[in-house]
Amino acid sequence: MFEQRDRVVLVTGAASGIGAAIASAFAAAGARVVLTDVTESAGLALAEQIRAQGHSAEFRRLNVTDEEDCANVAGQVLTRHGRLDVLINNAGIGHVGTVLETNGADLDRLYAVNVRGVFNVTKACLPTMVDRRAGAIINLASIGGVVGVRQRAAYCVTKFAVVGLTKAMALDHSHQGIRVNCICPGRVETPFVKKMLAGYPDPAAAYREMCATQLTGRMLHPDEVAAAALYLASDAAVSVTGTAFIIDGGWSAGK
Ligand SMILES: NC(=O)c1ccc[n+]([C@@H]2O[C@H](COP(=O)([O-])OP(=O)(O)OC[C@H]3O[C@@H](n4cnc5c(N)ncnc54)[C@H](O)[C@@H]3O)[C@@H](O)[C@H]2O)c1
Repeated sequence: MFEQRDRVVLVTGAASGIGAAIASAFAAAGARVVLTDVTESAGLALAEQIRAQGHSAEFRRLNVTDEEDCANVAGQVLTRHGRLDVLINNAGIGHVGTVLETNGADLDRLYAVNVRGVFNVTKACLPTMVDRRAGAIINLASIGGVVGVRQRAAYCVTKFAVVGLTKAMALDHSHQGIRVNCICPGRVETPFVKKMLAGYPDPAAAYREMCATQLTGRMLHPDEVAAAALYLASDAAVSVTGTAFIIDGGWSAGK
C-alpha cells in the first residue's frame, strides 16, 4: 500500500532539510525523484548521493517564484518521464517578528515563495495530472497554518494561506482523481530553524524553548515529515484529500 515504485515525483526546495529528507525517502521507496531548488550545488550533490545508493534521482534548478522557470521544469519532466505522479511543494522561507517588527517587504518576500511559489508550481504541473486523471499534491504548510505562533506574523499569514489553497484545490480537483493535502509540522530540526536560532540573543535558550513547544519535548526529525509525505502520496491514503495533516508533537493539542 505504501509503494512508490516508478512513480515520478517532483520535490521543490529539495536541497535542504525536509525537502532533502522527502526526496531521499521517495527515492528509497522506488520513485523517480526530480529534486528542484534555487540552490544548485547542494541539490546536485544530493541527487548524486541518491543515485550512488542505487536509486533514481535528478536535479533541476527551479526558483518557485518564477512562473517561466516553473513552466520550463514541468515541461522538462514531461519530456523526460512522460508524466508526473506526485508534486511536493516544499520550498519555503521564514521570518521572525510581530506585525510591528515585520515590514511590507518581508511579508511580500514570504508570500512570493510560500504562497505564490506553491501556486506557480502547481499551476505548471496540474494540467498533466488532470489529463491523466491521477495525481497527488502535497504542500508543506506548518503548525503556523493551523494555530497562531508568536513572533511569526508574516509566516502565519503565508501558511494559513497554504492550508486554504490546499482545501480549495482539493474541492476543485479531487473528482478528477487528484488528491491534494498539506502537512503541518511543528518545529523540525533543519537549517531553516538553525538559521532562525542564530538570530536570537540567546540561541541556546531559544532552542530549549522551541523544543518545549512540542509536548514531546523535542523537535521533529525531517524523516518523520518524509514518512507523512510517503503515506499521503501512497495508495494507503486513497481517501485522504483536503486534509491538513498535523505532525507537531502535540503542540496544537491545547494548553
Ligand atoms: N523546519 C521547521 O521547523 C518547519 C516547520 C513547519 C513547516 N516547515 C516548512 O517546511 C518547508 C521546508 O522547510 P525546511 O525546514 O526544510 O527549510 P530549509 O531552509 O532547510 O530548506 C528550504 C529549501 O527551500 C529552498 N528555497 C527557498 N526559496 C526557494 C525558491 N524561491 N525556489 C525554490 N527553492 C527555494 C532553499 O534553497 C532550501 O533548500 C518550508 O515550507 C517550511 O516553511 C518547516
